[in-house]
Parts: sequence; C-alpha cells; structure tokens
Amino acid sequence: MSANSRAKAPSRRQFLSGAAAVGVGVAAAGTTRAADPDPLITNVQEWAQATGEGVDATPYGLPIQFEKDVVRRNVEWLTADTISSINFTPIHALDGTITPQGCAFERHHSGAIELSKADYRLMINGLVDTPLVFTYEDLERFPRENRVYFCECAANTGMEWAGAQLNGAQFTHGMIHNMEYSGVPLRLLLEEAGVKREGRWVYVEGADASSNGRSIPLEKALDDVLVAFKANGEALRKEHGYPVRLVVPGWEGNMWVKWLRRVEVTGMAIESREETSKYTDTLEDGMSRKWTWVMDAKSVVTAPSPQAPIAHGPGPLVITGLAWSGRGSITGVDVSVDGGKNWTPARLAAPGTDKALTRFYLDYNWDGSEMLLQARAKDSTGYVQPSKAQLREVRGENSIYHNNCIQTWWIKENGEAENVEVS
Ligand code: MTE
Ligand code: CO
Repeated sequence: MSANSRAKAPSRRQFLSGAAAVGVGVAAAGTTRAADPDPLITNVQEWAQATGEGVDATPYGLPIQFEKDVVRRNVEWLTADTISSINFTPIHALDGTITPQGCAFERHHSGAIELSKADYRLMINGLVDTPLVFTYEDLERFPRENRVYFCECAANTGMEWAGAQLNGAQFTHGMIHNMEYSGVPLRLLLEEAGVKREGRWVYVEGADASSNGRSIPLEKALDDVLVAFKANGEALRKEHGYPVRLVVPGWEGNMWVKWLRRVEVTGMAIESREETSKYTDTLEDGMSRKWTWVMDAKSVVTAPSPQAPIAHGPGPLVITGLAWSGRGSITGVDVSVDGGKNWTPARLAAPGTDKALTRFYLDYNWDGSEMLLQARAKDSTGYVQPSKAQLREVRGENSIYHNNCIQTWWIKENGEAENVEVS
C-alpha cells in the first residue's frame, strides 16, 4: 500500500461515525469512506466560486494537466537518434481499445515528413493495364470503409527475448496502436488500373527518404488492405503518415507504409532491405525465417504493471489488459496469478473482432500477497499464446522480431510490480 493510499484509508472511528451520519451499513469492499465531515463535500470549492474557461479557449483540445504523464516515451539505450527511432504507447495508462493518435507509438526510419494533400500523389504502375496516378481528391471519390485494426511493430517485445529487460508494459508491449481507419480498399484502386495476369505481388513504398519499401502478396493486397486517410475520425497525424498510409490488417507494422506514394504490381517479391536483413528472424542454427508477416496472438496485463502499481490495500482489484491476433479475433484470455500454474478465464469487455485489440478484465479479490501475474490469449484459429520457454524452444534467442510470448509481472505485497521471467 502506498503512503498516499494509507492516508486515505478510513480509521475505525471515521468508519463508524461516517456510517452513522449517513445512516448506511457497512461500506462495500473496495470503497474508501470519506472523512466526516469531508471538506471536499461540505465546502464550496475554488472551482465553483468563479467561472471556468469559455468554449473559445481551446479550439482543439489536449488532455487536462492532471493527465500529463499519459504520453509516448522512448527508451534511451534504444534511441541512438530520434530520426530513426521509436517511441511507445502508454498502454499502462489507457483503457478501452482505441488508441488516441496523440499518444500512439511512432516508428520512423528517416523521420516524420510534412506532406500536404495538395502535393500528394499515389502512383500505381508495373504489371497493370493502365498505370495511374491519384491525387488526394481522387482517392476521396472511391467508396470508403471504416475498420478498426491494431498495428504492431514486429519488434514489439523484441528486447525481452534473452530475459526480462524493460520495466513497464509501455516499453515491453507499447509498439502497438489500435485505431478506426477510414479509407479505400486497395483492391478498388488495383481494379481501376487492371492487374495483368502475371501480377503476383505489389511493392509498396512511402514518400519519405527511407521509402520503407515492402512486397505484399497480391492475394493480401486484394483482400483487406486499406489506403487510409483518417484515423479515429480525423486526419492521420503527420507521424502516422499524413495524408495517406497503408493499413495491412494483422500484418507486421513495417508493412503499413506511411506517406504512401507508389504501388507497383510485380511478378516477384522485390526482396528489399526491410524484408531480408531486417524484419527476419534468425534461428538457433543460423537459418532465417522468411515472410513472417502475420502477428501471432498475444496479450499483456496493462494494470497492475510496473508503471501502474496497485495503489490500494487488499480487496477488490481490477486486473486488466489487451489481447490481439493477426490471424483473426480473440476468443478468450486466461489470467494466472501464480506464474502460469493455474488459469482463470478473464471477462472480455466486448467480443473480440477481427485483427483488433480486445480489452479483458479479471475482477479479482486480492488478499494482499505477492502475485506472478500473466495473461494468455486464444484466437479464432484455436492458437494459444506460448510461454517464453515454448517460444525459445522453436526460435532460439537470436531473434529480435515476433516475440509473442506470455509476459510475467511480479506484483509485490506493497502493490509495486516488476518485469520478471518465470521458468
Ligand atoms: N512507412 C514509411 N514510409 N517510413 C517508415 O519509417 N515505419 C514502419 C511503418 N511504415 C515506416 C513506415 C514501421 S517499422 C512501423 S512499426 C509502422 O510504420 C509504425 O507506424 P506508426 O509510426 O504510425 O506507429
Ligand atoms: Co516497426
């Protein structure tokens, strides 16, 4: 229990007089009895003695000052320079499933560029009947879809392969965001250009200096890939690819090309840097896994966790977290408080949807003792998230990417939490 919450806990005397004063019986477990009399109730507060800000004070709103800790963060030793770098979503402090753009992780290979709608062009060329160039306004005239999908960098959790390293869900699992995208199916644009019979792949690239070129099999390109221009109802933020990015549902974030400028239909994969020397996993015997596009089922407890310790004593505790799968929807999440010996099904806040984050809760009666807290996701293909040991058995320890193993938080009696590994 923190010093802060100890101060707030009611004394026995306060409890009795409080109960008598309002004529109620025993307080529900987990509620904090107010002091009697409580000046926060009995006094006219400062904020009620004058008027607040007018509606013209904030043309575009930012979070209130009390939430200033809910921000992206990077890890110093991972940040050689901020141009080719990453920062992480504060998943430990969010709830629900939608990630606000303002704190959704960013990953750039050559910095975030500023590209206006007026200067925007998208070219479709290669093995097509008619090479085409679309302006932003052209794209707006195609039939649009709205879909919620997660985007997870293949390197998410990558630092944890060899052992527990980073102390916080933001750092171990925060290379993920989940937004509602509005955009045009890539299929419609490809149909407009007419894909030649020899077309098997598309090569997609961005307008930034890195271009981040990637090959995508035509089958996927014609399936659920979106050319998106809005996220969570508003224009994409600069850092997420304004004005247009590719959304490649369930597949590694690197393929979600930002500032999308060109889609070339090809007969073969291009084998670019980003799909050979990078975003490929080297196994124990030195062989590499090729084409590891789909992000397997994964979950993490977001609270309690190292950056979100338990701030109260024993009794009701909401254990919560996120689960997702690039192969379909989440069908269940189990939670263990003893390092994976016993599992309890968690409650899904809403039924899992295709390739999107699912929020889970376990409404738990904490007895105040230590816990080894874990979550384990199951998806609609029947796949069950593996333990770290199971994953290492197959993949060794040389990998950087595609670590979807079960995470453990050691919750101490004082409510603090630490990233640990259990065998
Ligand atoms: N697209 C371009 N053009 N340039 C980039 O550097 N980074 C990729 C991908 N698309 C990148 C890009 C990587 S590695 C990831 S994980 C996602 O964008 C991250 O998207 P975000 O910055 O919106 O979170
Ligand atoms: Co990435």
